[in-house]
Amino acid sequence: MAIHYSKYGRVFDLLPEMILIVDADQVIVDHNTAAAEGTGYASSDLLHSSLDLILPAEQRRVLMSILKTNFSDQSLETKFVRSDKSILDVQIDLRKLYSAERFYSVLIAKDITEQKKRELDHLRFSNVIQHTVNPIQITDASGKMVYVNPAFETASGYTKEELLGRNPRILNSGRHSRDFWKSVWDYISQRKVWVGEIENRRKDGNPFHTELVISPIVDGSDHIVGFMGAHRDITEQRILEQQLVRSQKMESIGTLAAGIAHEVGNPLTSISSLVQVIQRTTADEFAKDKLGLIKDQINRIARIIRDLVDFSRPSAYVIKPTDVNKVVREALNIVQYGKKVKDIAFTLELADDLPSLSVVPDQLAQVFINILMNAVDSLEGKPGSIWIQSRSNAEHVEVVVKDTGKGIDPGDREKIFEPFFTTKTVGQGTGLGLWVSYGIVESFGGDIELESDLGRGSTFKIKLPLEGE
Ligand SMILES: Nc1ncnc2c1ncn2[C@@H]1O[C@H](COP(=O)(O)OP(=O)(O)OP(=O)(O)O)[C@@H](O)[C@H]1O
Ligand SMILES: [Mg+2]
Repeated sequence: MAIHYSKYGRVFDLLPEMILIVDADQVIVDHNTAAAEGTGYASSDLLHSSLDLILPAEQRRVLMSILKTNFSDQSLETKFVRSDKSILDVQIDLRKLYSAERFYSVLIAKDITEQKKRELDHLRFSNVIQHTVNPIQITDASGKMVYVNPAFETASGYTKEELLGRNPRILNSGRHSRDFWKSVWDYISQRKVWVGEIENRRKDGNPFHTELVISPIVDGSDHIVGFMGAHRDITEQRILEQQLVRSQKMESIGTLAAGIAHEVGNPLTSISSLVQVIQRTTADEFAKDKLGLIKDQINRIARIIRDLVDFSRPSAYVIKPTDVNKVVREALNIVQYGKKVKDIAFTLELADDLPSLSVVPDQLAQVFINILMNAVDSLEGKPGSIWIQSRSNAEHVEVVVKDTGKGIDPGDREKIFEPFFTTKTVGQGTGLGLWVSYGIVESFGGDIELESDLGRGSTFKIKLPLEGE
């Protein structure tokens, strides 16, 4: 044996690390007890064997090439193969030793198999969270977000950078009271798992509904170190429910409207003819003039009533196979007559393979005109663009009208289809356009969808089913 030990030399038998000393030819010249135990070899097998004995074939080259050079102290990860052929992950510190005028390499190896396994588990776990479609957020014990997965970014519309370090309150829709959130917090602070449905608000102001499970994360010594919130997106489901409510509401309003139109319409016709009679027979210029004004007002009421009637009474119009693109072009022509459109760039992108639909073309034109007029109005006389697209899939023909106008306040989005809801000044709008349009589209079995970004613009998507019941 070429190595000389001081009187504490065998102390290295007490060390938990596996220590192997190899000579210039990488032959093992000494080792400690831990090395024999860790590799499963008897001392007689290890001594005078090449280091290859305990290195799996694919690991040899790297380690050997280092040992052959005049290496400096370093540390690396590799693997050992035990006598029973099982594999250990090891972390090796390499040192040089000079003894009796010869150089040796000292390998101080630590078994990190368990640690590696934990890392792998962790990696798998974080991959699952990273790639699941469920939005997930993790907070620290104080409730600040420390992790969100990509699905969470998509659902909320915020980026990771905007969310981390903030309280989940940033998504608060205002639909749930302060007391509600306090009770949730009290509940999870007692280490209980909370489950419920909540309404959040996306960055763009639109709601997103989720079923939320919040579970406390507890460490080894039973302290709460954070909370995990896992969401299931139920926005689609909620939208469908709201649509159902909306169409039921429309139906009852429709019945009411028919009644009012009838009750108001008849007396109005009498008033109108009486005004005409007096106008013709009077010689009083003042009275004539004022009667003219009365007639204008009567016409305005009559127009509103006509809209109401159109909506509530299935019209005398006939349903026939209709080229939707043609109707879109006609509607656009009418809208472009207006004075307000000179600074607006219209882009028409019509699919040329659109199937024809069984609808009432005049009514459909009415829908497109209403929506296009609204788009024009949304630009408030400023330059902007309106984009009209038609397309179809297996179930629907869709006409999309997108504007770069002022957008719709999130709080108004549910109301704009209601009759007489308008944000325009008196005389500018009656608030019937969308209500009538929705009624028409619904009578064809279709639907109108809305997306809007306040200050940026709105998109109305008119969906008409291919069957056109
Ligand atoms: N493209 C749009 N951009 C912004 N706001 C819109 C848009 N379309 C509709 N709105 C909002 O919806 C409201 C209701 O629209 P609707 O067409 O029913 O009535 P109106 O345009 O006000 O009056 P009218 O009966 O003359 O059409 C509008 O007042 C407006 O606030
Ligand atoms: Mg309108």
